[in-house]
Amino acid sequence: MLEISKLEVAYGRTQVLFGSTLDVGANELVALLGRNGVGKSTLMKATMGLMKSFNGTVTFEGEDITGLSPSQRVKRGIAYVPQGRMGFPQLSVMDNMKVVLEATSHKQASAIDEALDLFPRLKPILSRDAGFLSGGQKQQLAIARALITRPKLILLDEPTEGIQPSIIHEIEAAIAEMNKASGLSILLVEQHLEFALSIGDRYALMEHGEVVSSGPADAAATATVRELIAV
Ligand SMILES: Nc1ncnc2c1ncn2[C@@H]1O[C@H](COP(=O)(O)OP(=O)(O)O)[C@@H](O)[C@H]1O
Ligand SMILES: [Mg+2]
Repeated sequence: MLEISKLEVAYGRTQVLFGSTLDVGANELVALLGRNGVGKSTLMKATMGLMKSFNGTVTFEGEDITGLSPSQRVKRGIAYVPQGRMGFPQLSVMDNMKVVLEATSHKQASAIDEALDLFPRLKPILSRDAGFLSGGQKQQLAIARALITRPKLILLDEPTEGIQPSIIHEIEAAIAEMNKASGLSILLVEQHLEFALSIGDRYALMEHGEVVSSGPADAAATATVRELIAV
């Protein structure tokens, strides 16, 4: 479904992706792992068209989308929940979702209901300004907003980072349901290895701007990956 091939990306004159290659199949959940600073977020931004690549290609459902804008990629069915997860803090939870709905081509209000069914915790706080939400609620809203576009593939960058433990399992369960029940393809950056490998079909490990190994996310992978990530 998604094929990233030999992508090279730089911030100014500092190159950070050195030919990253990665693919995500239909209905597949790939856990993108690696230490801080290896380029995971940059790879997601480049996949979304938010960073220009000077080499390499991104193909989605057989179409070369390397030259497409971020909004054109959203229309093709790719959604992105960045690390840090900001919506519009001055808008209510509901208005944050409506803004996204209005920008979609499908305009189906049922997309909001479905997103709320996945995150029922948001239902009693629809009129609250997003800026006043807890970290966990903000993350749930961020994922809900991405789902309203009715994506085929969603890129989730550290969705449980800095979130209180009691909410983490709800977010993890929602991610599992998106993939297993709804068949959404997911590329997930996640520091919590046990979770990433238990929910993932496959892992891909990055080091210094390259995907250096990948394999099935099974019990054996945990030890392998832990060893590879350890400094
Ligand atoms: N906006 C930026 N400007 C310059 N360098 C950046 C910027 N964002 C990230 N980098 C650098 O690019 C490298 C990869 O960062 P990033 O993709 O965020 O890694 P990860 O998500 O794996 O932690 C790091 O060395 C980081 O310091
Ligand atoms: Mg990152």
